[in-house]
Amino acid sequence: MAKGKKTVFYCQECGYESAKWMGQCPACREWNTFVEETAEKAPGVKIARRDAASEPVKLSGIQSGEESRTSSGSVELDRVLGGGIVSGSLVLVGGDPGIGKSTLLLQVCKNLTQGGKRVLYISGEESLQQIKMRAERIGMDGGEMLLLCETNLVLVKEAIQRVKPEIVVIDSIQTMYNEEVSSAPGSVSQVRESTSVFMQIAKGMEITVFLVGHVTKEGVVAGPRVLEHMVDTVLYFEGDRHASYRILRGVKNRFGSTNEIGVFEMREAGLAEVENPSEFMLDGKPEGASGSIVACSMEGTRPILIEIQALVCRSNMAIPRRTAVGTDYNRVNLLMAVLEKRLGLHLSSCDAYVNIAGGIRMNEPAIDLAIVLALVSSYREHALNGKTIAFGEVGLSGEVRGVSMAQQRVSEAKKLGFTTVIMPQVSVKALEPIEGIRIIGVRNLQDAVGNIV
Ligand code: TYD
Ligand code: MG
Repeated sequence: MAKGKKTVFYCQECGYESAKWMGQCPACREWNTFVEETAEKAPGVKIARRDAASEPVKLSGIQSGEESRTSSGSVELDRVLGGGIVSGSLVLVGGDPGIGKSTLLLQVCKNLTQGGKRVLYISGEESLQQIKMRAERIGMDGGEMLLLCETNLVLVKEAIQRVKPEIVVIDSIQTMYNEEVSSAPGSVSQVRESTSVFMQIAKGMEITVFLVGHVTKEGVVAGPRVLEHMVDTVLYFEGDRHASYRILRGVKNRFGSTNEIGVFEMREAGLAEVENPSEFMLDGKPEGASGSIVACSMEGTRPILIEIQALVCRSNMAIPRRTAVGTDYNRVNLLMAVLEKRLGLHLSSCDAYVNIAGGIRMNEPAIDLAIVLALVSSYREHALNGKTIAFGEVGLSGEVRGVSMAQQRVSEAKKLGFTTVIMPQVSVKALEPIEGIRIIGVRNLQDAVGNIV
């Protein structure tokens, strides 16, 4: 960097600013994420509207209008967005490289153009031919969608002003750069500057802008977390790259709830919606194996059945091995301590591995009971009835606590052919009877374990 120019250090992970280099970011605790950049004027200053009079008004004097929403043509995406695309909103779609962000947005563009919308897809990563090839793969035949391969922010802005689209996709925000900002494309200053320009475009011209942001594992490219506070909606596209399903999760949404998830499956011809995730998650569940039970977790308003697997075996190490895949490691340790203390299982001399099948991540406390039963089942080498599901939170005294939305969970179990539900006694009272399903209400771990072995 040239001498005399003021520079600052930014954390590429969360955007924390510091006058000197640091090994660990004090804000997000990531290591080695600081990069030196030229100090710029604070981004976002330009958003300030100078035309409107800065006169405070009474809340009662403001007309409330319903935000106008358009369906994206994808039920799953609409649900995560809170009921469709809000016009004039700025939506960030983050995710690991190669997870399917471009594919998802191209499919949305396809649906929207078919619905008669004017869509502009701006790519800074792929050539027109590459996009065409992808479009053909997802069955997009020609169509009216407009494409632009450009990374210069000024030219991109001009193009948007000229074309006046209703929807713009920027793939990706990390490739956009403004010549006036001296740091490299992808740096915190550049990414913030570009986002503030797209914010102006979205709000000023009533255009919905989708920004793609790559989640980066360290390095010189700023991650999407840096701009989470600047946009209206933040969605993360996650999933195991080796598994075919993908989950779209809302992290922030100014126009709806963030509890909802959308489930997709990556196929030969793009992303397909998964209407019934439970069926998908339980695919390949073994019959008659010990250490396996189905749990029910709520994702927003949607119950999802998942298989919990545990493997407990004698350890020959001083400190036994414990791993938890797909759920909280500390929670599993806690539950094992509860089992040891309350049921007298000698787990401290055992290795234990807990896995949520299918590679999905679930952290709801309601899966505690299933984790416990899977551990006991594996410890005792006793296979559980394959038609049983369990849910409930487990406390430190070994009590099984009530959970919300028990009715939905039981209905989902019934829908997928399960016949027995082990659940907290306190939640049973609120349950409306469902035919053909046996409900076992349990108060504590002794009750629960007594019912399965
Ligand atoms: P992509 O959308 O390019 O990911 P991102 O934009 O998040 O980096 O998706 C890349 C992966 O998706 C790639 O590995 C191939 C796979 N894919 C399919 O399996 N089927 C398809 O129809 C398409 C378009 C991609
Ligand atoms: Mg891409």
